[in-house]
Amino acid sequence: MNNQANTLGPRRLKKTYLFSLFCLSTLLFPSAVVGVKREDFKTCEQSSFCKRNRDYADAAKTDSASSPYTLTTDTLNFKDGLLTGELLNTQNNVPFVFELNVLENSSARFRMNEKTPLKPRYDELKNYVITNPPVVDKDATFSVDQSSGVVTLRQPESDSTIVIQPSPFQVTFLSKGTPLVALNERGFLNFEHLREKPAPKLVKQEGENAEQETTEDKFEEVSWEEHWKGSTDSRPNGPSSIAMDITFPGFEHVYGIPEHASSLSLKTTRGGENAYTDPYRLYNLDVFEYELDNPMALYGSIPFMMAHGKDRTVGVFWMNAAETWIDIEKESKDKKTTTQTHWISESGVIDIFVFLGPTSSDIFGQFSSLTGQSALPQSFAIAYHQCRWNYLDDKDVASVAAGFDEHDIPVDVLWLDIEHTDGKKYFTWDETKFPDPVAMQNSLSVKGRKLVTIVDPHIKREDNYYIFEEAKKNDLFIKNSDGSDFDGWCWPGSSSWVDFTNPAAREWLIEQFGLDKYKHSTESLFTWNDMNEPSVFSGPEITMPKDAVHYGKWEHRDLHNYFGVLFHESTANGQIQRTEVPKRPFVLSRAFYAGTQRTSAIWTGDNFARWDHLEASVPMLLTIGISGIPFSGADVGGFFGNPEPELLVRWYQAGAFQPFFRAHAHIDTKRREPWLFGEPYTSQIKHAIRTRYSLLPLWYTLFHEASVSGTPVMRPMFVNYPKDEAVFDMDDQYMVGEALLVKPIVTPDTESTSVYFPGNSPWYNLFDYSLVHGGGFKTIDAKLDSIPVFIRGGAIIPKRERIRRSSSLMKWDPFTLVIALDEENSAQGELYLDDGESYDYQSGAYVHRKFTFTNGVLESLDVAKNRSKDAEHFIESIKTIRIERLVILGLAKVPKSATLVSSEQNKSLQIDCEQRGTNNNVCTVKDPGSRVGEDWKIELAY
Ligand code: NOJ
Repeated sequence: MNNQANTLGPRRLKKTYLFSLFCLSTLLFPSAVVGVKREDFKTCEQSSFCKRNRDYADAAKTDSASSPYTLTTDTLNFKDGLLTGELLNTQNNVPFVFELNVLENSSARFRMNEKTPLKPRYDELKNYVITNPPVVDKDATFSVDQSSGVVTLRQPESDSTIVIQPSPFQVTFLSKGTPLVALNERGFLNFEHLREKPAPKLVKQEGENAEQETTEDKFEEVSWEEHWKGSTDSRPNGPSSIAMDITFPGFEHVYGIPEHASSLSLKTTRGGENAYTDPYRLYNLDVFEYELDNPMALYGSIPFMMAHGKDRTVGVFWMNAAETWIDIEKESKDKKTTTQTHWISESGVIDIFVFLGPTSSDIFGQFSSLTGQSALPQSFAIAYHQCRWNYLDDKDVASVAAGFDEHDIPVDVLWLDIEHTDGKKYFTWDETKFPDPVAMQNSLSVKGRKLVTIVDPHIKREDNYYIFEEAKKNDLFIKNSDGSDFDGWCWPGSSSWVDFTNPAAREWLIEQFGLDKYKHSTESLFTWNDMNEPSVFSGPEITMPKDAVHYGKWEHRDLHNYFGVLFHESTANGQIQRTEVPKRPFVLSRAFYAGTQRTSAIWTGDNFARWDHLEASVPMLLTIGISGIPFSGADVGGFFGNPEPELLVRWYQAGAFQPFFRAHAHIDTKRREPWLFGEPYTSQIKHAIRTRYSLLPLWYTLFHEASVSGTPVMRPMFVNYPKDEAVFDMDDQYMVGEALLVKPIVTPDTESTSVYFPGNSPWYNLFDYSLVHGGGFKTIDAKLDSIPVFIRGGAIIPKRERIRRSSSLMKWDPFTLVIALDEENSAQGELYLDDGESYDYQSGAYVHRKFTFTNGVLESLDVAKNRSKDAEHFIESIKTIRIERLVILGLAKVPKSATLVSSEQNKSLQIDCEQRGTNNNVCTVKDPGSRVGEDWKIELAY
């Protein structure tokens, strides 16, 4: 361990200080260094376990090679859907145990560990990640073919089987005899057993009895201490990696494994067209000025991969939080392409979930029912957020808020970055700049607005700072291997990091958010958790040394990728527990892992004010969404640099159709609040933000759906059009739910764009309701004042068209329904509504309506489940909220009349139509008087 400032001599201290100053200056003044400092981060070649496993795979590919892992047949035991047994590595005679769980819900789990490890291997992750224990399929059957030893597990309810080949060991998951996923088909399974550190080498002698250096010796030499840019990873447990190949036979496209600035359909990494040379890396890192089109690790990691083909979607979750690399290769044979992947993690055990779909929605359900559903956000959280590093003082905050009012632009949240604190001591305020934080929060709150302050995980080592003193007194810090507190460098200078794997530390953090504990905090204050990879300026690869020690004596190496979740989850719990009646929290985190969706939103970190970064935000967010986190966004405008007005407008237009919508900018950039660029830009930005507000009912309904089913709100085209091969690698346009097709403009000087309209349905421009016929690419007008967004014919979208200063001020406003007819003159859609802040919806206090339009009749149906007394109370409270307008698109004929039919009355309604092209009469029914929480019908007559 080499980062112990308390044990450093003056020379080292000076060096550390200079290094930190350098880091700080490059972070503060990005123009000084342009582009990622690649040399700060390891390649696979420089990461010894990755290289070893790539070499192992190369050796396994040779014709004569055969995987040494063999099933010890007489050890098999099958009971209640669980198969257990032993494997032997016949090369070194190391025994392993494995479990294969046949699960309900078309899923299975494969686990493997050493039978008698020298010391326990890290296997705690499951306790954090899995929220709903998977249900074992007790009806599964077991059979062994006596001559070949092949084992078959069958699920009578579904069409799936699992076939285990004993030697070499291989597991194949099939449906109706077609293989869908195979483990160790290529023999890359490599489980490095723990071993004693070898004694120092004997001096070699010359002559006949000379000691021969074996391959094993060479292996031992490179597998213990590892050096990287002046730091040493002592690696006390020696080599401990685990690796396995996972093949997706017949699947050309795989997706997932965020976070990378890469395409939606993942690229190959070992040869092939346009391939990367390094594997995709999962290791939560603070990568300064990250590069695009690159498999380098970024801030978050989700080892989840989905494979999609015309007939099937499958998925795998490699549950491991250590540094992980994934190679991807493709093999084409008989006009079929198969994707082959190779997963390599530095430590822990093998624990893989296989999800057999069959559709992508099934996969989202299978994955989210395991790792937890996404939290339903408070409704303000999905509106617009205004951030910058930093709003200078309370006057600045007030004047920014006033600027929004003056320009009639809604905003729900203002944000304060690290400079609001007293010397980067989180939970404190700079009292000169913010003399009365409560008054500041209250003045935002009267307009329905909230404030977010930043709370990072590094804690300034300063006596008299109560947070430091409490954490120290309670012995909550991450340790060096000698037992002393780890001390590294971050924003405040010398800092320590609370060990959130310690339950006492999580409880302690929760307490810090108490309204009496966090001075000057109110219920309208929410939290931003940054730098939680964790970012350690003085650490190897700008993070925590792997041999730092956590609670239970586990190494940081074992759990690195999960650290950020433990922090943001406790932050969220702190907000939940700060009031007697809990309210839903809002936390934004930079680091993430599977499970983040249960409590937090995330953003894609420090992007650039460049067109290519705007473009990259789309595949990045699509990937994060299908990997389980629906609530994600990218800094609108770009963090580094100064966007030209055109780029800023385009970014707002894109951001308005991405789940988390926040503008943010680096401290060194020019001010860029929406009204600072003059016309036409101010109006164009205003239009984008107001459009977001008008569609909040749709977004909220989709977030509710995500919280129930795991289906992302921002969806790749292939999710909605699974049979259309033209969209399988499409990531420059996407769907918001099933209703809106969005094609953000990500290039300068653009007047038109080509949009792919799948299916044969008509599509309607969201803004002027003009009709576009589906069935392929169409050129669409896309001047700076327009946003290419289309409503799918067949969808009904709920809107609110009276835009106010913040979303909560729109809470009692009436709705508009836009009914976009398909070729059969029908449409359907949903509206989910609750109080937008409490947990009452969980006991039934919500409205969930389904709207259908068929044969000229629009009907509102109740699709709510778990009705209760609370529901009645809520419905009573929204009784007066009505539908104020229907807009029906695509009517071939103009109706003569419209009538509202409800339990109370039959009322004749005013209907006005206008023709927008052939077969597209756009008819408006004004004030139908129907209530949003009730059953009713509106009938058109011809
Ligand atoms: C890094 C974050 O990514 C950025 O958004 C933030 O402004 C700075 N840290 C300062 O807190």
